[in-house]
Amino acid sequence: MNKPLIAANWKLNKTIQETESFIKEFLPSVKNNNEVEIVLAPPFTSLYIANLALKDSQVKLAAQNIFYEDKGAFTGEVSAPMLADVGCSYVIIGHSERRQYFNETDDIVNKKIRAARKHNLSVIFCIGESLNERQMGLTFKVVQRQLKEGLRDIELYNITIAYEPIWAIGTGKTATPEQAQEVHSFIRNWLISNFDNVGKEIRIIYGGSVTPENIKSLMNCPDVEGALVGGASLKADSFSKIVNYKF
Ligand code: PGA
Repeated sequence: MNKPLIAANWKLNKTIQETESFIKEFLPSVKNNNEVEIVLAPPFTSLYIANLALKDSQVKLAAQNIFYEDKGAFTGEVSAPMLADVGCSYVIIGHSERRQYFNETDDIVNKKIRAARKHNLSVIFCIGESLNERQMGLTFKVVQRQLKEGLRDIELYNITIAYEPIWAIGTGKTATPEQAQEVHSFIRNWLISNFDNVGKEIRIIYGGSVTPENIKSLMNCPDVEGALVGGASLKADSFSKIVNYKF
């Protein structure tokens, strides 16, 4: 089992001041937690201040999105070198909200992963099926397509796969540990059959309505190696209970 990774995805939430006070409250509660790799993904506007506030801690900084070109006439976009410059070591790519509201295709996701890797950013690569796809029995097919296209011609390192069933995101309907394990084990087998031994070392984390109450049972699954947490990561107290699930 790899060292678990637990990341907070704040989405479109928190001002600079709210970011600072979250970090001030959060850091003391995780000071002695070296069991888990902890990552915070604030909005772009809070990255600079978050980087300063996290300076003397083990907590790492992530961006929620990236553009695949380094620079140029791309109004409104932020590139990998800019994210590295502001102190990010991680970036979330392919989140279902990006795919759904911003028309991100598997091909765009693939380009973004390449751009991140070129600048040594570790990637949290999100995949997952919709409710409709699950009900139609297409879960494995969808997940496999996203993996195959997203990782096309990419060497497998510095990548964490986040399995996030869309029906579980922000709905309070967490996948049961059995449902999560079933898909995680499918992903693990796919990684091993496509990337041999390297596939064994890739972390697979779960996202979708993770809370302090359900984190333990999810982490008990053999192939669940962490979590990507939205709603329950917005309060320092709740997110620290999640990352301290072992204590
Ligand atoms: P949620 O979001 O924890 O609020 O369901 C998870 C995510 O979208 O990454």
